[in-house]
Amino acid sequence: METPAPTPATLGEDQCCDLVLQALKVPGTEIADSNAFAAQHGAATEVMSNAIKSLGSQDMVMTQSQAVIEWVMTEEGEGSFKHESAEFSLFNRFPAEGLEEATLSELERHALNYLKSQRLVTFNKATKRCMKVEGATMERDTTHEMMVRFVRGSLEALSKDEQKDVQKRKLVEKRTRKLIKVVRGPAYAETRKPTVPFLTKDMLAKGNWDQVNFKPLKLDAISAHPPAGHLHPLMQYKSMVRRIFISLGFQEMPTSRFVESSLWNFDALYQPQAHPCRDMQDTFFMKDPALMVTMPAGGLVEKIKQMHEQGGNGSIGWRYHWKEEGRKNIMRTHTTAISARMLAQLGQNYPAKFFSIDRVFRNETLDATHLAEFHQIEGMVIGKGLTLTHLMGTIRQFFEKIGMHDISFQPTYNPYTEPSMEISAFHPGLNRRVEIGNSGIFRPEMLTQLGLPNDVQVLAWGFSLERPTMILYGISNIREMFGPRMDLDLIENHPLRLLGVHTN
Ligand code: PHE
Repeated sequence: METPAPTPATLGEDQCCDLVLQALKVPGTEIADSNAFAAQHGAATEVMSNAIKSLGSQDMVMTQSQAVIEWVMTEEGEGSFKHESAEFSLFNRFPAEGLEEATLSELERHALNYLKSQRLVTFNKATKRCMKVEGATMERDTTHEMMVRFVRGSLEALSKDEQKDVQKRKLVEKRTRKLIKVVRGPAYAETRKPTVPFLTKDMLAKGNWDQVNFKPLKLDAISAHPPAGHLHPLMQYKSMVRRIFISLGFQEMPTSRFVESSLWNFDALYQPQAHPCRDMQDTFFMKDPALMVTMPAGGLVEKIKQMHEQGGNGSIGWRYHWKEEGRKNIMRTHTTAISARMLAQLGQNYPAKFFSIDRVFRNETLDATHLAEFHQIEGMVIGKGLTLTHLMGTIRQFFEKIGMHDISFQPTYNPYTEPSMEISAFHPGLNRRVEIGNSGIFRPEMLTQLGLPNDVQVLAWGFSLERPTMILYGISNIREMFGPRMDLDLIENHPLRLLGVHTN
């Protein structure tokens, strides 16, 4: 039984691929015109061109495109080829009484003009009609014959005069066509291997990885932006602060202890045990372990007890009975505990400048500007001959560097500093000044009990990390920046606000 020739619709891309590979089987052969090739095999041009593209992407074939100029028949030319020419038809049915030109169609008028030019027909002025010339005959339809030759061999099949004639009479016209030539590519093979995206463990195990083609990786493809890796504004601000202090010659203190003993958080700072800020309202006390396991050695506890109870070095002390209260574990209420630890182990290593940035915890009522946990930027400058002016200058310089030029100092009270100064800045969102830090010069009692000599001063401060961040980012409620109500968009889409910042 004979198999019918495939209709274009039934030839799929896979079959087209096979046809192309088969056609290039003999080395050196080529498919000169992919469209003609498609037509020859009864494939749709679209499907064939997709097949060629897919083979091209696997380097099995290579293509070269070329613009070619073609001569094609016009509608009139086509009519002359398929049937007979318009002039031949008109001449053969030319009425004896002649024709009125106005009654003719455009095609017929063309034909009439041609007949006139060949002197087969003339215009009779008397009758105002076109008449057949006496004895004129038209045995052959030369136009039809020319078009037959044109179809067989294009323009070259016509004589020079005929070529001019068919162009002038618009029987043929020029057209440019893109011709795609297909040749073997470097990875040519008679049959196709399946194309897979990745090498798999299975292929390695079976050793059949060379029987497939790998899809080329598009390394320059633009991928989706991963929705990760954003720095929280607080963390951006934190790294900026760190850079500023380092640029000012400060060293960072180790802060990795959220749980601290009362001894370091309060007693070491010469903070009396009965001070109200130690009570349940402000401090989170630990249940387990409730007490510090080992008290610091080297006489430190004794020195603290001595200073609190009786004073020394010109001070009369707090004059109360110091208890083992200092053993109680708490969540550190400030990073000044870190500074105290640093001073106790400083020895002779001064002058020196230290900073730290970390989290502290307070049992506060939450509101727009207070959280139960927040970050402190702690700092100390240790040296001889240091005064309040140095302290204010250092603090101003820091805030200048983060772009906050409008800061002010107000006197305040701290059990461990004298004098003490609160620092505030204007918050445009809240439309009022807010406290952004606290500072002072550590009291001699504190320095003495930690082992520092009389002539050394320590300037110190604790700034809020959150408040300036809120000011810089225009956030009015601290809970929008920290905790479960945090707006993720703020994290993802806000670059660091560094207005006016310079770190060197
Ligand atoms: N510890 C103080 C606070 O938590 C800040 C401070 C640090 C004040 C050092 C003076 C000196 O507010």
